[in-house]
Amino acid sequence: MKLLIKGARVVDPSQKIDGVLDVLIEEGKIAKIAPNIDYAAGEVVDADGLTLIPGLVDIHCHLRDPGLEYKEDIVSGTKAAARGGFTSVCCMANTKPVADNPAVIAYIRDKAKNEGAVHVYPIGAASKGLEGKELAEIGEMKRAGAVAISDDGKPIMNTGFMRLAMEYAADFGLKVLDHCEDSGLVDGGVMNEGYVSTKLGLRGSVNVAEEIHVARDILLCEQYGLSAHICHVSTKRSVEMVRLAKKRGIKITCETAPHYLAATDTWVAEKEYDTATRVNPPLRTKEDQEELIKGLCDGTIDCIATDHAPHHRDEKMVEYDLAASGISGFETAFQLCYQALVLSGKLDVSRLIALMTVQPAQILGLPAGTLAVGAAADIALVDLDCAQTIRVEDFLSKGKNSPFDGMAVTGRVVHTLVDGEWVYRDGCIAPRFED
Ligand code: DOR
Ligand code: ZN
Ligand code: ZN
Repeated sequence: MKLLIKGARVVDPSQKIDGVLDVLIEEGKIAKIAPNIDYAAGEVVDADGLTLIPGLVDIHCHLRDPGLEYKEDIVSGTKAAARGGFTSVCCMANTKPVADNPAVIAYIRDKAKNEGAVHVYPIGAASKGLEGKELAEIGEMKRAGAVAISDDGKPIMNTGFMRLAMEYAADFGLKVLDHCEDSGLVDGGVMNEGYVSTKLGLRGSVNVAEEIHVARDILLCEQYGLSAHICHVSTKRSVEMVRLAKKRGIKITCETAPHYLAATDTWVAEKEYDTATRVNPPLRTKEDQEELIKGLCDGTIDCIATDHAPHHRDEKMVEYDLAASGISGFETAFQLCYQALVLSGKLDVSRLIALMTVQPAQILGLPAGTLAVGAAADIALVDLDCAQTIRVEDFLSKGKNSPFDGMAVTGRVVHTLVDGEWVYRDGCIAPRFED
């Protein structure tokens, strides 16, 4: 099986490649990248005008399988990922049952391998039942294929437990990914606490609720020489603290999510209490957003992760305070980041691709995010000039919960290949994944 993709602008930050080149794929792997490769016994595709990048890597998503398939399942979720240009995704453990044991981890891996459109790497829970009390079976989960440990969806409230989880995870070469929100300080808040929440009469969740856990995790890492990864950083002071921690040589990494770059708390007012804007941590202020962008530019924030969190329509078609939190993010992530970071002139395209490919892959040590010869031919082809409108009804995800519905964006994922096979082609999912 050979495939030759000709004439695309190839951007692979892992090898500092940016130029018009041909890419030859053999047996599902990258065989050669060079100008004008003229021999291929198999399929030849003209990709003139498109940008060819390593398939995007997402280290934080929710696939809801097992148990919450009415929101999403491994098939629909990985189809949505492919449509968004992602070829490797890591799914959080807040499923039903919770992924706190090797059987659930094995189920996710096997189902994804047999039926999924992209590579799926499961994340195991830190605590049994996400209850923050008893450690989950970390070693066994690692053996079954877990690539990290996280109670995401819930904060780890007990600092002693957090220390224990980090120590055990480290023994097995895994990192703890922490959802930083102090529930005592969140105290039922449903949006960012500030001018807008006061004006709207909605209960606020204060920024320090996030920051106090970020500070705690940094201190634990420093004290015990451990490492941790902070999920979805959303506030200015979180970025400032991580920046300082890195200067002090502390082994901390962090991510932010596209929605924090593309929207702020004013959206809750502008969209008239649209529950699609409800997410944890909440959309913050312009000032926070500017610092996140600064953090992405100066290397404080290591990567972008979607926190794709699909919910059923019925869970969002309720009053703001009662609505489920989360945004269906796979199918808008690249475009939103391209708009917020590249078209705005803050970062060049290669830096953005690095934040969505090689950098997240490195945090968890995943075999992904590169077009190096011999690597899996996991590729996205994007049209960076194509203008389009985000339409939730076009989503392949079951979760149509996006505040970006109707937004005009530039940049379109045209094709996605996994192991050299077309999983998404010319805007259509491969027939083998159709319902
Ligand atoms: O908004 C969120 N939704 N934040 C989380 O941490 C969990 C996620 C979910 O699972 O729906
Ligand atoms: Zn979270
Ligand atoms: Zn999450």
